[in-house]
Amino acid sequence: LMVPKSLIMAKDDDVDLGSGKSRVSIFFGTQTGNAEGFAKALAEEIKVKYEKAAVKVIDLDDYAADDDQYEDKLKKETLSFFCVATYGDGEPTDNAARFYKWFTEGNEGDTRLQQLTYGVFALGNRQYEHFNKIGIVLDEELSKKGAKRLIEVGLGDDDQSIEDDFNAWKESLWPELDKLLRGEEDTSVVTPYKAAIPEYGLVIHDPSFISEKSMDSNLANGNAAIDIHHPCRADVAVQRELHTPESDRSCIHLEFDISGTGITYETGDHVGVYAENHAEIVEEAAKLLGHSLDLVFSIHADKEDGSPLGSSLPPPFPGPCTLGTALAKYADLLTPPRKSALVALATYATEPNEAKKLKHLTSPDGKKEYSQWIAASQRSLLEVMSAFPSAKPPLGVFFAAIAPRLQPRYYSISSSPRLAPNRVHVTCALVYGPTPTGRIHKGLCSTWMKNAVPAEKSRECSGAPIFIRASNFKLPSNPSTPIVMVGPGTGLAPFRGFLQERMALKEDGVELGPSLLFFGCRNRRMDFIYEDELNNFVDQGVISELIVAFSREGAQKEYVQHKIIETAAQFWNLIKEEGYLYVCGDAKGMARDVHRTLHTIVQEQEGVSSSEAEAIVKKLQTEGRYLRDVW
Ligand code: 2AM
Repeated sequence: LMVPKSLIMAKDDDVDLGSGKSRVSIFFGTQTGNAEGFAKALAEEIKVKYEKAAVKVIDLDDYAADDDQYEDKLKKETLSFFCVATYGDGEPTDNAARFYKWFTEGNEGDTRLQQLTYGVFALGNRQYEHFNKIGIVLDEELSKKGAKRLIEVGLGDDDQSIEDDFNAWKESLWPELDKLLRGEEDTSVVTPYKAAIPEYGLVIHDPSFISEKSMDSNLANGNAAIDIHHPCRADVAVQRELHTPESDRSCIHLEFDISGTGITYETGDHVGVYAENHAEIVEEAAKLLGHSLDLVFSIHADKEDGSPLGSSLPPPFPGPCTLGTALAKYADLLTPPRKSALVALATYATEPNEAKKLKHLTSPDGKKEYSQWIAASQRSLLEVMSAFPSAKPPLGVFFAAIAPRLQPRYYSISSSPRLAPNRVHVTCALVYGPTPTGRIHKGLCSTWMKNAVPAEKSRECSGAPIFIRASNFKLPSNPSTPIVMVGPGTGLAPFRGFLQERMALKEDGVELGPSLLFFGCRNRRMDFIYEDELNNFVDQGVISELIVAFSREGAQKEYVQHKIIETAAQFWNLIKEEGYLYVCGDAKGMARDVHRTLHTIVQEQEGVSSSEAEAIVKKLQTEGRYLRDVW
């Protein structure tokens, strides 16, 4: 018997396809766990509905070791679903990046997948320019390669209720799946599916048993790779305010000390930071749950015999630890709760009225109320819990089904390892302001950075688990290539790294090409961050020209794109032949407007039509000469 090699090697292929089962593969591309959660929920439901189905949930990164293996394995799939999220500037999630690159550009269009029937559910946010790009492109590409589309691509919009979008997509999926997976003779009525509420096993420990394990505690041992799942603690060496006292906002310059951690980075990379919830928030959450902060416990996802408790449980966080630690480090308490969280809360509400109202919010009739009272009001999980105080779920349910896992926050690194090999610099605007309910929303990580105590000031300094995420936002390999940088506000961050790198190159005697930096802020006296450093870069010839737009000095708003228009000829001359254009900052406003401005400038400077200008801009992008680092 010849067994294909990939079947022996890959762990995803261990589905028993004996007894006439049909293999169903559900792939996910996830950053924060949402797409993974949907993939698992879909799997569970298919398993319950169709006896015939042998379902596997697969992380796209784990699926194949290299491109050839992707090809071999995909050619053996017959029925697959893809739950894929789109991030940042229309990018795939980290775990889908390799697959996506190969699938859309790497295989020269010669992969044929006629044997495959598929469906795609895309996760994204309509407020962004490239809404669900990854899911849409994947869906088109699968069809181009000959695969059969079972159902229209589902466009999940996280700005509204992505769970509703997912449910609607599934509703139109079932009739199609019935045709494929229910035998002709099978006339049994399918009972409506009701998802079980996920719950970890819980062990309460004696309070004296306190050997706190945490995500980053087993590190600094030198041999584990440092990544999102294995961050490494770094101390805060420096922390200072960048705005002047005249400003009513705050922007923090923070330096992580990475000496001796094994962390390395390149100019233009991002740092992921696991900040903790503020003590006030943690205390309130413990009170609402009805437990003491000192309670020592651990959670587990397996039964005693080692079999999993449920297929949709995320991996548990390390324990034992105190409730205070668990709430601070692992629970997202400030994001508006999903409907599935409300369903779980409702189950534990002992006041019938509270249970009724919670259930209503998750029902089709309560759709409008959910979208107003929860989503549009940005009502946090804690606010919702305090409105339903009788709902005190067990901790195993709270951490599995109600509070999502706290996610790391990403920052564009604002230093260069050439100048600061032992430091990772971050430039972070404080998120602080009232929400529609009157709550003051304090951004989790920026508040942490604002309150961080640096080693300069105290031996009891702050620190956080961090890791580096590589980016393709890099300087041209040839330092004499012209560059244009556009980075208002904290969009300046990666360019500070670029300029430090150019400074180091210059000191080594390297000849630098011309460069323009467009910066924007409200007012010269308030938020012109790193002003002295930037002027010094100009004096040293590291930037040819610094052009600043002050939006709140004159009667009229001046933005970076207005300054770009004023210097249109100079701007386009630098880029046109071989130059690079970099844009960093807010995606929904600034980067979109700068993109439009670029299009106009190309049209005018080149004297071409709008569609020709678009083609030129596209070409810049595909050549990697127009790069964006936006959020
Ligand atoms: P504003 O706050 O006065 O509107 C950094 O945040 C700078 O970017 C500020 O001066 C801010 O101006 C400006 N800004 C806001 N929206 C912008 C947009 N759509 N394009 C360019 N700059 C913008």
